[in-house]
Amino acid sequence: MPTVSLTVNNEVKQFEVHENELIWDELDRLGTKLPAGCLAGSCGTCRIQILKGPENLSEPRAVEKETIHHLEDQYKKKYGDDFMQGKTIRLSCRARIAGDVSITPFKEKI
Ligand code: FES
Repeated sequence: MPTVSLTVNNEVKQFEVHENELIWDELDRLGTKLPAGCLAGSCGTCRIQILKGPENLSEPRAVEKETIHHLEDQYKKKYGDDFMQGKTIRLSCRARIAGDVSITPFKEKI
């Protein structure tokens, strides 16, 4: 089973999850609720930063790509063009697990 490592306030929790399931659903099933709004890929509330293993997630589909693009634009406008450099954002309600991954909620306000 793959492992999702969740870092919140320097504390790391590990979850053994089912492959091909959504990150948000699997953590919810195991008792941890990530932030959420629409749970459909359009609001961006569930955004997470991928610390390790971005290649172990499903390729983003059109709706997730569009939402992430919009979020990145907003962050760049607020914090500058370099802000997103080296950061990988995904939506936990859309990203499916294919292997080990480390994540943290993406908390910076827009
Ligand atoms: S909860 Fe709205 S995009 Fe994930």
